[in-house]
Amino acid sequence: MAVLKVAQLGHPILRRRAASVPRDTLRSRDFQRFVDDLIETMRKYSGVGLAAPQVHEGFQVLAVEAQKGQEEAPATPLTVLVNPVVTPLGNSLGEDWEGCLSLPGLRGKVPRHREVRVEALDRRGEPLDFTATDFFSRVIQHEYDHLQGITFLDRMKSFETLTYLDEYARYWAER
Ligand code: NI
Repeated sequence: MAVLKVAQLGHPILRRRAASVPRDTLRSRDFQRFVDDLIETMRKYSGVGLAAPQVHEGFQVLAVEAQKGQEEAPATPLTVLVNPVVTPLGNSLGEDWEGCLSLPGLRGKVPRHREVRVEALDRRGEPLDFTATDFFSRVIQHEYDHLQGITFLDRMKSFETLTYLDEYARYWAER
């Protein structure tokens, strides 16, 4: 496995719509190796999610995982989604902090749908259809946005909460 280079804000691939993964590609060794590398890279940089465009691959693949206590997050098992479709359920929105490995050092409050329906393939091509709520829902929406060329900055209502990590720890973390 290999740790991949993470695209930083300004790289055009972060603004492109990712292509869907063809069925044949899913079964290839190269694709399976890529998914392993995506996961390895997410873990190496302590991300709770990572999308393929963030490692310079314009395909609709994303990974989500959180260890207990990481990012003040509930433990979230490793989930790999291929060609996902994410649909909001209901009108309930919640605001919470997000960061991004492509925007290192920054955090901001982002409104997200509390609950979404997720339809996708797993890494072996088996269909998935489930409901995600709260933190899991938030991370999936964040990573799904990357597949559309959207960053969390685009989702912020205002930049008043946009902050560097040091200042986040000093002024915001306790609120
Ligand atoms: Ni991100």
